[in-house]
Amino acid sequence: MLTLVKNKDIYFEYIRTLRLHPENTSGFIEQVFITPAQQQTYMEEHGHKFYIALYQKKPAGYIGVIDDDIRICTDPNFKRKGIAGFMLDNLAVLHPNARAKVLRQNAASNNLFLKCGYYKYNEDELFNYYKRAGK
Ligand SMILES: CC(C)(COP(=O)(O)OP(=O)(O)OC[C@H]1O[C@@H](n2cnc3c(N)ncnc32)[C@H](O)[C@@H]1OP(=O)(O)O)[C@@H](O)C(=O)NCCC(=O)NCCS
Repeated sequence: MLTLVKNKDIYFEYIRTLRLHPENTSGFIEQVFITPAQQQTYMEEHGHKFYIALYQKKPAGYIGVIDDDIRICTDPNFKRKGIAGFMLDNLAVLHPNARAKVLRQNAASNNLFLKCGYYKYNEDELFNYYKRAGK
């Protein structure tokens, strides 16, 4: 069973680990290392903008919206099981105006947004830009 819960401090380090996982980093725009201390500081400011997907009560991914910009990541142990789709479906209710800026080379993420009710409203050399249909 899947649920989406608000982020809290017990998940701060989990989010950092997923964000830095070698299978995930290339999908993100910024290739940075984040220390636990930096994560703590960042989460104190933005942590309330994140949600955690729980699969049978275990964390399986996260989604966050900052200034209407979506960041999403699935735990490598749970990929291709519909976790990201579930998070985006829930986000559509919580943040209907949220958008995504996705690296053109990130096939998984581009497919994900197209599959989950988003459309490409712009593009440039590096990125595709998505928002929800009707927004
Ligand atoms: C992109 C990402 C969040 C998808 O997570 P996921 O939980 O595995 O995705 P889902 O199982 O919900 O898949 C939904 C759809 O997305 C697309 N998709 C997901 N992974 C894909 C892959 N590896 N290749 C191609 N399409 C993919 C498919 O259309 C899929 O539907 P299908 O399984 O019916 O074909 C995950 O690969 C990830 O965390 N990537 C690294 C971080 C990242 O790139 N974040 C996005 C930054 S904008």
